[in-house]
Amino acid sequence: MTKQIFAHRGLSRLAPENTLAAYRELKKHGVKWLETDLDLTQDGDIVILHDADLDRTTDHSGSVHELTHDELAKVDAGSWFSDAFIGEPLPTLAQVIQVINADQLNVNFELKAHLAGDPVRRDQLIRQFSAALAGVNPASQILVSSFSPEMLTRFSAVQPAIKTAVLFKKEQLAQDWIAIAQKAGASAVHPEVGGLTKDRVRALKAAGLAVNVWTVNSLSKANQLFNWGADGVFTDISQDFPSRYLN
Ligand code: G3P
Ligand code: CA
Repeated sequence: MTKQIFAHRGLSRLAPENTLAAYRELKKHGVKWLETDLDLTQDGDIVILHDADLDRTTDHSGSVHELTHDELAKVDAGSWFSDAFIGEPLPTLAQVIQVINADQLNVNFELKAHLAGDPVRRDQLIRQFSAALAGVNPASQILVSSFSPEMLTRFSAVQPAIKTAVLFKKEQLAQDWIAIAQKAGASAVHPEVGGLTKDRVRALKAAGLAVNVWTVNSLSKANQLFNWGADGVFTDISQDFPSRYLN
């Protein structure tokens, strides 16, 4: 079976993470699955950013939740990476969808769980995101993940046909991932690579769950995971994975 290689935040070793420049690298390198992170602006728009604040990956600072769409449109999300990307903006979700459609990509949208404890804002994010999905070409596969099982349950209530995946950190190894995923109605789990064992992968697979592991930046580790039965890996070095892994 073909294994899935997810370009983590785009091809984030070649261009600044979670920018259109990083997403456009997928087609050039024959990578089919894009992974990206979705959050909410102060005025209720979707913003594409991994961190809850702007400090690490932009020329601004502070919480992304406190800035409006128009304020975020002025942010430079490329100069921190290299001079070649000065002025690279934060993408809008509509722009991300344009690249997905134009380059015939599959996509894993991660709903960031920063707002999981704020029911009003959490539901606003889910509503905005759900409405935008109408723009994705039906030929593209969509997978929606989150560290918040509750966000996935709420998303599935409005988009029952779209597959979901629960993200787990290595600190959660003691939890019953199968029960959590089943309760959320997820078809997959996305475990952190640290501490993951062959027995755990096999148990997840035996329960009928797909297993996609993050973040795997070693070919030998990816091989081991695939031999254990994992279906895919999220990686920062997607362009280096041998073509036999690419689907
Ligand atoms: O979706 C896999 C991975 O992206 C989850 O962790 O922190 O990189 O969003 P993070
Ligand atoms: Ca992510």
